[in-house]
Amino acid sequence: MVPLLTLMSSGILHLLQVLIGSARLFWDFNEDKFLPDWGKPGSIGEGLVRYPTDATRDVLPINCHSHNDYVRRVPLFDAIHWGCTGVEADVWLFSGELYVGHSTASLTKNRTFRNLYVGPILRLLDTMNQESGFANATANTAMRGIFDEDPNQTLVLLVDFKTSGIDTFPIVHDQLEALREKDYLSYWDGERLHKRPVTVVGTGNTPFNLIVAEKQRRDIFFDAPLDKLWEPPSTGDPSSISTLSQEVKVFQNQNSNQGSVGTENTTIDDFNSSTSYYASVSFMHSVGFVWRGKLSTKQMNIIRGQIQGARRRGLKTRYWDTPSWPINLRNHVWDVLMEEGAHMLNVDDLKGAAVENWKIRTHRFL
Ligand SMILES: *[C@@H]1O[C@H](CO)[C@@H](O)[C@H](O)[C@H]1NC(C)=O
Ligand SMILES: *[C@@H]1O[C@H](CO)[C@@H](O)[C@H](O)[C@H]1NC(C)=O
Ligand SMILES: *[C@@H]1O[C@H](CO)[C@@H](O)[C@H](O)[C@H]1NC(C)=O
Ligand SMILES: *[C@@H]1O[C@H](CO)[C@@H](O)[C@H](O)[C@H]1NC(C)=O
Ligand SMILES: *[C@@H]1O[C@H](CO)[C@@H](O)[C@H](O)[C@H]1NC(C)=O
Repeated sequence: MVPLLTLMSSGILHLLQVLIGSARLFWDFNEDKFLPDWGKPGSIGEGLVRYPTDATRDVLPINCHSHNDYVRRVPLFDAIHWGCTGVEADVWLFSGELYVGHSTASLTKNRTFRNLYVGPILRLLDTMNQESGFANATANTAMRGIFDEDPNQTLVLLVDFKTSGIDTFPIVHDQLEALREKDYLSYWDGERLHKRPVTVVGTGNTPFNLIVAEKQRRDIFFDAPLDKLWEPPSTGDPSSISTLSQEVKVFQNQNSNQGSVGTENTTIDDFNSSTSYYASVSFMHSVGFVWRGKLSTKQMNIIRGQIQGARRRGLKTRYWDTPSWPINLRNHVWDVLMEEGAHMLNVDDLKGAAVENWKIRTHRFL
């Protein structure tokens, strides 16, 4: 992972600002200037109250997930700042409270799911909507999302369940109530999907069966196993496809490591847009190492077949664990994935993602 703070303290930051065009991002990088009280007991997240209503003006939404909680003091702030349309929180259930952090060692009392995510998102959305008077309106299609440039863009809150799914699920569900009661959460009502400013997706130990059990109002969606959705791609070199397909299928089945909690009695057809939002996989695990800076025919077959299988089910493809170094390999892989129609990339290097022309290229997938 790229240590963000190291980058920030070096001259690279200046260079990046020049590259992006400093006008595009009017926020300063000094969090303290904007969030002076952040983390002080009793005032966690209060800084967000002072966000101007145009807090996100000129921030172009891009399809990246910011995954990080403990390196960044304010993970949400950073992600939105860079236009990332997704944030990822690792949550741990201890003594009835949800803590956020990469490992148990990084947990502290005040870094809770409520303090770092639910509260700030709620305040930000209230702020974005107060002028139009929708802050407490219900079922309003004109409700504004986080991003000023594209108010219809939903923010994906990816919750990685680190502790037992069965125990953690009801607590996450309860803690989302503050967003739910304002009608800020996308949901499935049993017949159709209602899009709202925030879409919650559960990954890690999230139990699929508990998601499906929510029949009336389902507002936590599953992160489906992308590798299991692979099917023979209809594009690409036909002669290579048939011979590779069987091989790829066997490989995928042996290596599947995603989305298995509570899926005992399901088939892959249960992963559709009523139950799931993303279909994800580790790039390293599923596609493998990229030799000589170029994806092989077999790797292209894997990628195309996965994206096709996900799309057919109305799911958005998300790759994580893509190569991060060297930079030109990283960019090449990002390029190929986006060109093939992948929807979302996980990035630790937010600046890298924002700076790429990638922004322009990905716009058509928003
Ligand atoms: C959390 O609270 C403790 C004491 O209550 C304080 O010392 C610490 O600075 C706080 N940390 C953060 C990140 O808010
Ligand atoms: C929002 O709530 C306040 C206080 O309850 C109320 O006065 C106001 O009319 C409500 N606005 C809308 C748009 O419902
Ligand atoms: C946002 O969605 C609404 C309702 O679906 C639609 O009328 C409007 O044109 C959309 N706005 C943009 C900027 O896409
Ligand atoms: C799967 O089905 C078996 C047999 O019907 C049942 O005992 C088990 O509880 C089911 N598992 C889940 C996760 O629903
Ligand atoms: C989608 O998944 C749900 C839950 O398993 C299932 O009931 C439904 O039939 C599926 N829809 C389609 C179109 O396959």
